Amino acid sequence: MNRRDLLKSFAAVGALAGSGLPGLAPARTLAREVDARHAFAASFEDVGESIGPSTVRFEGRLPDGFAGTLYRNGPARMRRGATAYRHWFDGDGMVQSLRIGDGRLHHHGRMIATDRSRAEEKAGRFLWGGFGTAFADGRSITSPDEVNVGNIAILPLDGELLALWEAGSAWRIDPRTLATRGRKVFSEETDGVAFSAHPRVDPDGRIWSFGYLSGSGKVVLYDLDRGGVLKRTAVVEMPNADMVHDFAVTERHLVFVLSPVVQRRFDDGVPRSFLDTLQWRADLPTWLVLVDKATLRISHRAELPSLFAFHYGNAWQDGRKVRIEVARTAPFDQLMRSITQATIGESFEVPALVRPVDLVFDLDTSRVDLEPLPLAHAEFPRFDPRHVGLRTDRLVMLARGESMADEAFGFNCVTVLDRGRQRVQSFDYGARVIAEEHVFVPRAGGREGDGWVVGTAYDWAARRTTCSVFDARAVDAGPVAVARLPYTLPLGLHGQFVA
Ligand SMILES: [Fe+2]
Repeated sequence: MNRRDLLKSFAAVGALAGSGLPGLAPARTLAREVDARHAFAASFEDVGESIGPSTVRFEGRLPDGFAGTLYRNGPARMRRGATAYRHWFDGDGMVQSLRIGDGRLHHHGRMIATDRSRAEEKAGRFLWGGFGTAFADGRSITSPDEVNVGNIAILPLDGELLALWEAGSAWRIDPRTLATRGRKVFSEETDGVAFSAHPRVDPDGRIWSFGYLSGSGKVVLYDLDRGGVLKRTAVVEMPNADMVHDFAVTERHLVFVLSPVVQRRFDDGVPRSFLDTLQWRADLPTWLVLVDKATLRISHRAELPSLFAFHYGNAWQDGRKVRIEVARTAPFDQLMRSITQATIGESFEVPALVRPVDLVFDLDTSRVDLEPLPLAHAEFPRFDPRHVGLRTDRLVMLARGESMADEAFGFNCVTVLDRGRQRVQSFDYGARVIAEEHVFVPRAGGREGDGWVVGTAYDWAARRTTCSVFDARAVDAGPVAVARLPYTLPLGLHGQFVA
């Protein structure tokens, strides 16, 4: 399949996501005092081109020798002129740099200059619909990058950062100034073709990624060396390939868990967002698909009852069994409804309580067993990055703690599952905080799971974002060091720590 065919496969998404729901999101009228219901939406108020810089001292004590930068990405600009987005995932991406060292936190954040945002800056309004918002007068979409707001994740690569979106080009970012250097082109053939937000990096630095072409039934696979040089690509047909957010790798396989989120086609001319075209089909199976890393061909596939997850923790092979950590959530439609409600400041429905699971796949019999993990309402799984594809005992996730107000969207608790000791440790930030993804930072020379947990949290009562460092072995003792920024960062998605 050549580049033109790849892009053509994507035209279906473009046509559907091109324009959208008539009208604009209602203007948010926020009280000066933010309450739990409006806390999430309030984090996006008045976000400009940059935030900071500022330098603040850590309270407590940073571990000896602990130094590095937590780079985070996430939706930030939700409103431009008279146009506003209705869904968190739509917001224009902003990269945050949180540099930690010498007892201090240095922060600055900067909007990503995607092709799309530069055109919209000139126009003074959003021109195209997004993932979950469409505009009655929105432009029709002719390529994935016209939807690409670069707002999901970060991949440090070859001395720079890539800002990653769901299904378009990656954006090259200067790690020091956070200036956007342009679109990342891995090869002429893949120029403009979807590249996921969740590449996986093997312990030897080899990078795996994929891109889905909604409506095509196809997924593009990428095999890159540690410097980001593209070695191989392949296009593979997969079931349930209309929205594929994450995958995992073992030493031998790429592992896809494909949920029944199915794209519908409409010919009625009504403007719809990409999300409007997606339907959750609980009556259809979820598929587990293994791709052999050596051949880039599907080696195993199995059906399981429908489940939904955006994210996976680690995966590894133990004997003839492949285990994959799945951050199972409420069904897709419920989850999307709550995110929209939280984004526009409506009272939201807390999604059904669902436990993350291990899927255990038998390579000989193709049987899949589900083993629920002792965590509930948990998301954003992270683990020791030195053990990607190898067994890990420590899994870091966010959860909704007991103190969390029903009206507040998101998570307020950092939780660490220790498989070896069969125990869960948690730290609850309290009722007035929404926590963001916390990453695992290994201790140099330490064994798997030995290190720190680092993350940001939004204290919506004080309208300040904090950055905390925990000992990964004693998260329940609370952070060993906390720094409080003098402002709020917009609630984002994923980050990477660069030591
Ligand atoms: Fe993600």
